[in-house]
Amino acid sequence: MKTRITEMFGIEHPIIQGGMHYVGFAELAAAVSNAGGLGIITGLTQRTPENLAREIRRCREMTNKPFGVNLTFLPAVTPPDYPGFVRTIIEEGIKIVETAGNNPSQVLPFFRQAGVKVIHKCTSVRHAKKAEAIGCDAVSVDGFECGGHPGEDDVPNFILLPRAAEELTIPFIASGGMADGRSLVAAMALGAGGMNMGTRFIATKDAPVHQNVKDALLQATELDTRLIMRPLRNTERVLNNAGVERILEKEKQLGAGIKFEDIIAEVAGVYPKVMQQGDMNAGAFSCGMVAGLIHDIPTVKELIDRIMREADEIISKRLTGALRG
Ligand SMILES: Cc1cc2nc3c(=O)[nH]c(=O)nc-3n(C[C@H](O)[C@H](O)[C@H](O)COP(=O)(O)O)c2cc1C
Repeated sequence: MKTRITEMFGIEHPIIQGGMHYVGFAELAAAVSNAGGLGIITGLTQRTPENLAREIRRCREMTNKPFGVNLTFLPAVTPPDYPGFVRTIIEEGIKIVETAGNNPSQVLPFFRQAGVKVIHKCTSVRHAKKAEAIGCDAVSVDGFECGGHPGEDDVPNFILLPRAAEELTIPFIASGGMADGRSLVAAMALGAGGMNMGTRFIATKDAPVHQNVKDALLQATELDTRLIMRPLRNTERVLNNAGVERILEKEKQLGAGIKFEDIIAEVAGVYPKVMQQGDMNAGAFSCGMVAGLIHDIPTVKELIDRIMREADEIISKRLTGALRG
């Protein structure tokens, strides 16, 4: 398939793996890029620019295809060394960055000057237009279904994607709820040049996470995610577990007066416990409604090949057949 996204990033298939904390290590990024998609290393998981440089080099040893780095801007008391991360990304020769979490205008000039293409991930048409206006090359449009932070507007992709198509000139990628060939064809019908997947890539043999996490995604249905931190206007879609139940109970008890400190134990430092140790009740971790569409744990290559085969069949047989009547 050839789309504005495959052309822009020099990839074979219009499938991107979004940044994921404690999941997006070199192993997964390389597997996605080797399978013809665009793999992305999650910058902040590496904690320091020096570690990120090492991770980028590790990824280079595993693939000679293009891959990117995710840089997430978080509300933090002590912010990570963002200038250091930007420097490392540029010095290590990375040519594709996925930004998320906040307006990337402060880092954009450095990336543009270094010839780095920026995909900004956002959850509303308003923010997508802003990203276009400040000079981002593409946007990932993350619908309400998505794992992670869906924003506060609650607009699902069946509305959000065609609205993005109405308003944007730069190419965009459909993100949130994407799992298979049906998702890809639907995303393209709604105007996207490709799709971004998070949760689906966790349930693959190549994802460097504990088997318990993959098994939990296999068992989960589309009814098993919850929205936490709504009262803090920092909504996150997570897989339900005992830690999440505790957060939701606190949110109910404390109402509008809730502060981040009230739930910090269930939110901070959880990812290594879940993703590496497999402690599935350690606290809240992101997961999309798409868990309901995950029924196996293939390799990344099997998954991507299957998606492309399904998409081809849907377009050339089902849809073309319907046209012919
Ligand atoms: C476990 C997990 C961790 C994530 N961590 C990040 C992150 O650190 N930065 C980011 O920009 N997005 C993060 N995301 C969001 C994904 O990149 C992607 O936008 C989202 O998963 C798409 O929705 P889907 O899960 O329905 O595919 C995370 C998602 C998951 C499931």
